[in-house]
Amino acid sequence: MGDCGTLAGVANELSVAFGVNGERHKLTLDPRESLLDVLRERLALFGTKKGCDQGQCGACTVHLDGRRVVSCLTPAVQAAGHEVTTIEGIGRDGLHPLQRAFVEHDALQCGYCTPGQIMSGIACIAEGHAGDDDSAREYMSGNICRCGAYAGILQAVREVA
Ligand code: FES
Ligand code: FES
Repeated sequence: MGDCGTLAGVANELSVAFGVNGERHKLTLDPRESLLDVLRERLALFGTKKGCDQGQCGACTVHLDGRRVVSCLTPAVQAAGHEVTTIEGIGRDGLHPLQRAFVEHDALQCGYCTPGQIMSGIACIAEGHAGDDDSAREYMSGNICRCGAYAGILQAVREVA
């Protein structure tokens, strides 16, 4: 049978420091905590959404040093020494061109997937994967929209690219 003492040993907390949207944070973390939970529950950054919590929907997409990651599958301790950008960081100095394009192209309905779509879209464009419709569709395919706003999302990403 399992032994609680062993589990407690595995869960030793770690002190880590990382940046979020330009602000430095120092936190004591359980190594099992996801970056998504830390952003939402410790730092009150609720723009990043929890959909599946299994890496399947893209709702939790953020940037880690400019590269997109699904934050539900990223241990928060992995952000140590790095810079995390969330949707709140993108909109800090006024709407990002992709946020404006989402509004213009009606690329959202309920809006639940939208922060993840925008974080993914910005990265997709920066990666050079939004040069044509097929490529943009493929490289945005990790972001699911249950409302089916895909046509508008594609138009918005292509326009900004
Ligand atoms: Fe992270 Fe769905 S909540 S991929
Ligand atoms: Fe509703 Fe995408 S706008 S899930």
